[in-house]
Amino acid sequence: MNKQVNAQRGRPVATERAGVVMTRVGVNLGAEITGVDLRRPLPNEQFNAIEEALVENELIIFRDQDITSENLMAFGRRFGDLTVHPFSPNEAKAPELIKFRNDETTPPFGTDVWHSDETFRAEPPMATVLCAKEVPTIGGDTMFVSMAAAYDGLSDRMQQFISGLEAVHDFKPFKALFGTSEEERKNLQRYELLYPPQVHPVVRIHPVSRRKVLFVNPQFTIGIKGMDERESRMLLDTLFHQALIPEYQFRHHWAPHTIIMWDNRSTQHYAVHDYYPQRRYMERVTIKGGPVTGVERADPESVRKVKFVVTGNVDTHGGHKARQFRREMSDAKN
Ligand code: SIN
Repeated sequence: MNKQVNAQRGRPVATERAGVVMTRVGVNLGAEITGVDLRRPLPNEQFNAIEEALVENELIIFRDQDITSENLMAFGRRFGDLTVHPFSPNEAKAPELIKFRNDETTPPFGTDVWHSDETFRAEPPMATVLCAKEVPTIGGDTMFVSMAAAYDGLSDRMQQFISGLEAVHDFKPFKALFGTSEEERKNLQRYELLYPPQVHPVVRIHPVSRRKVLFVNPQFTIGIKGMDERESRMLLDTLFHQALIPEYQFRHHWAPHTIIMWDNRSTQHYAVHDYYPQRRYMERVTIKGGPVTGVERADPESVRKVKFVVTGNVDTHGGHKARQFRREMSDAKN
């Protein structure tokens, strides 16, 4: 049972369960967790509280956790088996551990684009844990977005239109890592056989919260099944734009020994590459996920019943208010 632990005016409300204190820090996603020591095995009750906090907040932050790589892997394994990323930097003796070690000679690669991790897999990961080892004083933030909030922000008409659609996901951006020699081309072909393009629903249902989530991302989603290239591009551009709306986002500035765990089923993230050539060193583990379940195709009869609404002069350059505005217009006309 969760207990409210501070409700002073002007301060975020914290709740406590089994000594795990959770304080919401973002409107659509994000909570800070205190009261745990990730250097030690978590008692079951604390683990359950953290697992619940992850689903509820989509993103959880642990500060001042000076943990080893082994601690990080052990923490990740409490949630499930870890993935071995086929293209990210790791070491043979611990291939589940990704090491993003960037400095003046090694610029960051491929993480400055909105994405959910590894959606090119048949079963994309359920969560990711990222641990800051060395961070720049200024810059090097990570941005996150709730794709459940992004879905909620779509108009009813668009939600109905995309229900039941499927999208194709591919590891395309990593193909640039392969050279042009005969051997490298053969190597790439081997990976293409191991990781063929995967089809996932455009709107997935979160397996625990049951929230609907917009499940396309500009890094790995390359097309909508059954649409031609132009239609697909237009629709994907519109859906990718939802992640850019600041109201659905949370931005984190790192300090050493901070750990963030995100729910990869319902969020996307973007590593801001503004710090280069400063040093930044992060370690990451990724937890395997299960099958992706989508929403059913909308009943065409119910689609026809949606009222036609004149939207007026809605600002098309952003704004999560468009949906609310259309609702108000709709109400005003009735
Ligand atoms: C990632 O995409 O997992 C990297 C995030 C980061 O380095 O901030």
